[in-house]
Amino acid sequence: MLGLQASLKDHDESRQGEALVLDGADVKHNRKLFIESYGCAMNFSDSEIVASIMSDMGFSTTSDYKEADVIFINTCSIRDNAEQRVRNRLKEFSAAKVKNPGITIGVLGCMAERLKSKFLEEEKLVDLVIGPDAYRDLPNLIGQVDDGNRAVNVLLSREETYADISPVRLNTNGISAFISIMRGCDNMCSFCVVPFTRGRERSRDPQSIVREAEELFNKGYREVTLLGQNVDSYKYPGAEAKEVNDESPSGYGQTVNFARLLELVANINPELRVRFSTSHPKDITDEVLYTMARHENICKHIHLPVQSGNSRILEMMNRTYTREWYIDRVDAIRRIMPECGISTDIIIGFCSETEEEHQETLSMMEYVKYDFAYMFTYSERPGTLAAKRYPDDIPEEVKKRRFNEILAKQQECSSIRLEQRVGKTFKVLIERNSKKSATDFSGKSDQNTTVVFPADNKSRPGDYVHVLIEKCTPATLIGKIVG
Ligand code: SAH
Ligand code: SF4
Ligand code: F3S
Repeated sequence: MLGLQASLKDHDESRQGEALVLDGADVKHNRKLFIESYGCAMNFSDSEIVASIMSDMGFSTTSDYKEADVIFINTCSIRDNAEQRVRNRLKEFSAAKVKNPGITIGVLGCMAERLKSKFLEEEKLVDLVIGPDAYRDLPNLIGQVDDGNRAVNVLLSREETYADISPVRLNTNGISAFISIMRGCDNMCSFCVVPFTRGRERSRDPQSIVREAEELFNKGYREVTLLGQNVDSYKYPGAEAKEVNDESPSGYGQTVNFARLLELVANINPELRVRFSTSHPKDITDEVLYTMARHENICKHIHLPVQSGNSRILEMMNRTYTREWYIDRVDAIRRIMPECGISTDIIIGFCSETEEEHQETLSMMEYVKYDFAYMFTYSERPGTLAAKRYPDDIPEEVKKRRFNEILAKQQECSSIRLEQRVGKTFKVLIERNSKKSATDFSGKSDQNTTVVFPADNKSRPGDYVHVLIEKCTPATLIGKIVG
């Protein structure tokens, strides 16, 4: 999806220049790291863990790969085109290495995990391949590369959550940050490569999550997004799991589920906005919805990937819910939080999808009127259940045509949702000066819609203001500060 360049704004300068000795070897100082991330927010969040580990080794980050000693590309395997984008970018990095053979090129993340050491055979100029659960091994692997070897670690873990590593915030606006609350996925949706690239699902201990959110708030951040592939299955054991004389493992007495975790983070301060992603329709509970409704600072927006509106396709996808179940969850959201924004992911042209089944996805969109949707044509991923069981039999031109129909329907839904908001007032967290005009601010409403409005001389990024919406463009609300 996005490429992100790193800068080390949040870096603790006092740690630079310290004489670090790791594993008995002198660490080279003042080396520069360039790290670029692809894929989902989890990957961007992982890059911040990597930057932290590298910073402990004396690396500072740069946003120009041409001046870097080490180039890392944190990769995504979700669709074939995500992998192609990485391959193309690697060609550019390899060209830099031909000019300057001292550069180290490392491939991180999901593609590294999927292809393992094959990567080193396929991409001759890559020095290091490291999977998402192995980042603690970076000092060792960088050492191996410094000694002239090529290095690989793609071991997955059942426990690793990097809970104790304080991320170095990359490309931050100093206002919103991601917090990873769990890793991996146990769901085995038939189309999806994530369970293979990220391993088993595990939850991070709630105390370390709350501490990280508190630290962010104290540094001036005003919004955290709790991240997991399926946040509703977040679970950390409590008193029930207690050994004699032990404290409860969760630190909060009982087992902490997602609703409780949301509440713990929301209680840090009413000025801290809490968001989360991604919710799974099979697991999202009324308890989570009531918790959202009770706390003004838990944003009223749910990303609820539907994938398809047809129950037969959902069964083939192994999503474990039906069209009716999904509609029931949407109805529950609307009942408990009438103003809640809902967004989704849709896969178009999954194996054997008929015209009627495609129409059911369109009618689901019509029913929910999603505020926003990520839409993808199906891309067969090697090793997944769908690749083993079902032929990828929808011709490319049919996928494209259906995609365009879904896209047009989504544009219609988005504009209906935006127009409904004209004339209303929303509390907006100012994020930055607008890209288009330096005299305008840009921020987000509770429902996660971008709102642009003229700056006043009292407010600045990080402040909350009330904005009366006067008009909208296809993706933005436009208004003025009131009150
Ligand atoms: N954990 C999230 C999804 C993570 S992947 C969830 O369960 O909702 C993000 C999105 O990529 C998925 O929701 C799906 O819509 C899309 N996706 C995943 N695998 C795909 C594939 N093989 N082809 C096309 N789109 C895919
Ligand atoms: Fe993939 Fe399904 Fe897990 Fe999401 S829930 S990451 S789509 S297997
Ligand atoms: Fe991509 Fe891995 Fe995320 S495959 S979507 S980067 S979990």
